[in-house]
Amino acid sequence: MYEIGITLTQYIIEEQRKTDQASGEFTALLNDIAVACKKISSLTRKGNLVGILGSAGSANVQGEEQKKMDVITNNVFIEALQNNGHVAALASEEMDEVYHLPDNKIRGSYLVTFDPLDGSSNMDVNVSIGTIFSILRAPEGVKNPAAEDFCKAGVKQIAAGYCIYGPSTILVLTTGYGVTMFTLDRESGSFILTQENVQIPVDTCEFAINMSNQRFWEAPIQRYIDECIAGKEGVRGVDFNMRWVGSMVADVHRILTRGGIFMYPIDARMKKAGTEGKLRLLYEANPMSMIVEQAGGLAVTGYERILDIIPKSLHQRVPVILGSKNEVERVNSYHKS
Ligand code: AHG
Ligand code: MN
Ligand code: MN
Repeated sequence: MYEIGITLTQYIIEEQRKTDQASGEFTALLNDIAVACKKISSLTRKGNLVGILGSAGSANVQGEEQKKMDVITNNVFIEALQNNGHVAALASEEMDEVYHLPDNKIRGSYLVTFDPLDGSSNMDVNVSIGTIFSILRAPEGVKNPAAEDFCKAGVKQIAAGYCIYGPSTILVLTTGYGVTMFTLDRESGSFILTQENVQIPVDTCEFAINMSNQRFWEAPIQRYIDECIAGKEGVRGVDFNMRWVGSMVADVHRILTRGGIFMYPIDARMKKAGTEGKLRLLYEANPMSMIVEQAGGLAVTGYERILDIIPKSLHQRVPVILGSKNEVERVNSYHKS
C-alpha cells in the first residue's frame, strides 16, 4: 500500500525496486510517457484557442479520417519517446508502419504501442478523450525491430495504461501488479496517486454498446442486449442502464470506477468487409484488457480471451467485450450455447 499523495515518479521508482531489473530504464520510460500525456492534456485544455480542432484532411492506414489532434498527439509521443534511449521502436494507430528511430538515436530495451488520441472525434465536441499505451520488451541486438516483434500476445505486455483528459486528467497504470490511478495536479505539474488497487465490481446493471449497430450483431449479443433491455419484466429481473461515450478510454474509465460491461462486437458489416472488429488489438484492446484483468474484470472476444490472441498484423482489429466479471462470463456463455 502506498500513501495517497505520492507522485507517479516516486511510485514507479518504488515499484521498480521490488523487481530485479533495477536499471532505472523502465522508470525513465514511464516518465517519458507521463511527460507526453501532460503535453497532450495541456493542448486539449487550449482547444480552439490554438486552432487544433477539426480535420487534418488526411486518413490513417485504416482509412479513418485523421483529426488535426491525431497527428499532433502522435508527434508529441514520438518526440517524448525517441530522444532518451529507452525505446527501440514505436507503433501507433496513426502510422502505417513501425516507426524506426533516426539512425543517430540510442536504442533502448522497450517497444511502445499507442493510440495517441482515443475518441478523437469527441475532441471537437469537448467530450472526454484519452491516450492508450502498451509496453513490450524489445528483441535483443536488433537495431530496427520489425512488425513481428510487436505482434506478441497481450499476456507479454510489461505494462499498459491510459490517460484520460476529462474534467481532471487521470493516468491509469498497470505493471502487472494491480491498477493504480494518478490525477494530474496542474499547480505542481505532477501526477499524484489518488487510487490504488482499483477493483471492478463483479456485478453490474450498466452496459455500453453502440446500439445503432444492433441489426448487424450476431445472435449472442442480440440475446444479451435484448435481455438487458427487457429489464425487471424479463429473464434478468432487473432494470439496466446504458452509457456510450464513444471514447473507449472514457467508457473503460467509468467501468473501472463503478463497474459495467463494454462491447464492440464483430458484426455482419465487418464480416463482409473482411475485418474482425472495430477496435485495434495492439493499441486499444490489449492494453485495456490488461488493465481490466488487473482490476479483477474480464476481457474477451466472445470466442477467446483477448490477451491470448497472437496478433497477425500491426493494425489487426478484434471484437471487444470487457468489464464486470459476471456479465462478461454471461456474454461468453451465450457464445458457447
Ligand atoms: P479512435 O478515436 O482512436 O479512432 O477510437 C474511437 C473508437 C473508440 O474509442 C470508441 O469506443 C469507438 O471507436 C466508437 O465507435 P463508434 O463511433 O462506432 O461508436
Ligand atoms: Mn482509439
Ligand atoms: Mn485514436
